[in-house]
Amino acid sequence: MATTTIPTSARDTELPRPLAKPFYIGPLLVDPPILQAPMAGFTNYAFRQIVREFGGAGLLATEMVNARGFVWMDEHEAEHPDRLWGVAAEPRPLAVQIWDNEPETLAKVGARLATEYQVSVVDINFGCPVRQVTQKAHSGSYLLRFPDRMGEIIERVVKACAPTPVTAKIRLGCSRDRINAIDVAQVVEGAGAAALTVHGRTAADMFSGEADWDLISAIKPHLKRIPLIGNGDLDSAAKVVAAFERYDVDGVMIARAALNKPWLYAQAAAAVRGEPIPADPTLAEQRELMIHHFELVRERFGDEKASVLMRKYACCYAQGRPGARDFRKHVATIKSPAAFYAVVENYFPV
Ligand SMILES: Cc1cc2nc3c(=O)[nH]c(=O)nc-3n(C[C@H](O)[C@H](O)[C@H](O)COP(=O)(O)O)c2cc1C
Repeated sequence: MATTTIPTSARDTELPRPLAKPFYIGPLLVDPPILQAPMAGFTNYAFRQIVREFGGAGLLATEMVNARGFVWMDEHEAEHPDRLWGVAAEPRPLAVQIWDNEPETLAKVGARLATEYQVSVVDINFGCPVRQVTQKAHSGSYLLRFPDRMGEIIERVVKACAPTPVTAKIRLGCSRDRINAIDVAQVVEGAGAAALTVHGRTAADMFSGEADWDLISAIKPHLKRIPLIGNGDLDSAAKVVAAFERYDVDGVMIARAALNKPWLYAQAAAAVRGEPIPADPTLAEQRELMIHHFELVRERFGDEKASVLMRKYACCYAQGRPGARDFRKHVATIKSPAAFYAVVENYFPV
């Protein structure tokens, strides 16, 4: 009688082939190897909650939190910044990103986040190109000029946070003629960081031009121990697949595109697993999603502030949808939940 057992080799070819493997940040398994990027003003608890509901992000991140501001609030018994909204109680894994240029201040805040808040990862921002952070506070991407200082900061924060892993997020350098990401990467690793994320632009580029993934990939052979996460311009599952196929990275991070499509992580995760890519939600489902997002923001900020805050999220959701211009024009002036619902009802396409 003929056997029905499928030979191992044939069975193997029928299984979806994952394109990228999960990886570790210290003790934390990042699975899938797709990360939600920190975005100031956007990646608060409400947004993270929505990303979690769709799934697909192996690690989520807060907005960047100023370490000096955190300490000041502590000393003055003030309420902690809105940027820590939800952090204490929400599901893990979660990275909190901090910024400053003082090793001691960063270490103090890192330790609090690790022990009291029990976050999964403490990430340090060395990539922010905004004037207020670079010129005024000599922090963010400003520090890329001073790798020794970066090393000192990371060493102190790693020591203060242990065993919670500490990671760094950088750009390629301060400007095109001062690209130093390989040197910086070696300093970051040498100082004890557990992963490095690289946005493939320089600080001077801000968001212009394209992220240079060849330069991100060129860092990998210089890292002995820690994973490399590439970031920049990934706005579809196909681009995430291409990034893993073409470039030498352990993980990828997605930022702006997820403001328009928070389900992109789930699509990208399916694509790298070799599984069918889930369809975009229908316009009616996107409308429900926006209302759900508003309700989350409203719980925290109350009617008026939530309505104003929601304008920017709603504009992101509408981008690229039919009638987006009209919707944006009307949503830009809302001041109350009633006005928000009316604009959604009348102008968001179905
Ligand atoms: C509105 C906005 C806010 C951002 N805030 C942060 C931040 O707080 N910390 C950080 O490391 N990067 C921040 N970034 C940079 C992103 O994390 C990411 O590196 C960059 O947008 C490139 O990725 P993308 O092409 O997928 O958007 C921000 C970007 C945007 C657009």
